[in-house]
Amino acid sequence: MVLVTGGTGLVGSHLLLKLAEKNQSVRALYRKGANLERVKTVFSYYSKNSKSLYENIEWIEADLNDLPNLTLAFKDITHVYHCAAYISFDPSNYKILRVANIKGTANIVNLSIANKVEKLCYVSSVATLGYDADLITEETQWEGNQNQSVYAISKYGAEMEVWRASQEGVAAVIVNPGVILGPGFLNSGSGLLFKLAGKKQRYFTNGRTGYVSVNDVTKAMLDLMDSDIKNQRYILVAENLTYKEILTTVAKSMQIAPPTKLASQRMLQFALVFDWVQSKLLGRKRRLSKAVCRALTRDCKFSSEKIKTDLKSFKFTPISEATQQVVQYFF
Ligand SMILES: NC(=O)c1ccc[n+]([C@@H]2O[C@H](COP(=O)([O-])OP(=O)(O)OC[C@H]3O[C@@H](n4cnc5c(N)ncnc54)[C@H](OP(=O)(O)O)[C@@H]3O)[C@@H](O)[C@H]2O)c1
Repeated sequence: MVLVTGGTGLVGSHLLLKLAEKNQSVRALYRKGANLERVKTVFSYYSKNSKSLYENIEWIEADLNDLPNLTLAFKDITHVYHCAAYISFDPSNYKILRVANIKGTANIVNLSIANKVEKLCYVSSVATLGYDADLITEETQWEGNQNQSVYAISKYGAEMEVWRASQEGVAAVIVNPGVILGPGFLNSGSGLLFKLAGKKQRYFTNGRTGYVSVNDVTKAMLDLMDSDIKNQRYILVAENLTYKEILTTVAKSMQIAPPTKLASQRMLQFALVFDWVQSKLLGRKRRLSKAVCRALTRDCKFSSEKIKTDLKSFKFTPISEATQQVVQYFF
């Protein structure tokens, strides 16, 4: 039996659909108060049979740090897809990030070892790779915590836990996706790019990063788990795009005008302070931090050659197609 963590999230819900379509017997974790309706909605985007596919999933309520329920969730599990993570770039959430992402992953790893799980697939991020290279590969080493976002530090710590699993007999694969594009989650992750574009955002920053469609991420995860490959990591980036390019692609998909003005460093500094003041005065979630501003102006290019070489038939969806698909379901 397969266990999926983070089943109510963008990646987890898309993965659950594919597993259900393959007739796998699947158990998925959800947290108290989680929105299971959103999973049903994601299923309905892709399948006429969505109701019965959804009903084939066994749901268990468990936080990543709820050991009693997690222990129950591991009964008869042979394969684990660990997609759950707390995602925040706000430095004041550092402790929460460490508990959910590092300690939570340590729990998944410990239970995988104790239950002799055959294989574990962990969804990490390109944020855990070094960035001081013209073309970043799986070999580009993390350069230490300095200048990293609190999110990246927590994901790097989680990867270390997964490598511990591989040393203790659990075959493991890690995927390192760039920004993941997919429908169903307008208020978080890449959904915010579409929201921003919808507000006719005029500005872009000078950086570049990698993007990938959610269906490519889940396909890579399934293919890697079905293969003999173990104890390897894979960058998943379909295209490296500047912020101007991605915002223009999104705007085109939405048939609205693309951004035309470059935001200067001074403007970013101002936005950083404004965001901080708003969070203090209005109790709003912070969207910017120094690390985020650095990332918005950093020029990162990622190589996905390794996955294309090791999974011979693997092909990435063009990002313009991925954005079209998001727009088709959202707007
Ligand atoms: N989205 C991206 O652009 C992107 C890029 C690179 C890597 N990643 C990684 O991909 C994975 C999936 O991301 P996503 O985009 O699907 O994120 P998402 O939509 O925010 O989903 C996160 C999932 O994790 C669950 N979760 C969070 N904290 C938890 C905890 N303490 N215990 C149990 N479950 C918890 C959430 O449950 P609730 O529904 O209850 O909140 C949700 O199911 C994450 O590991 C993320 O770091 C994402």
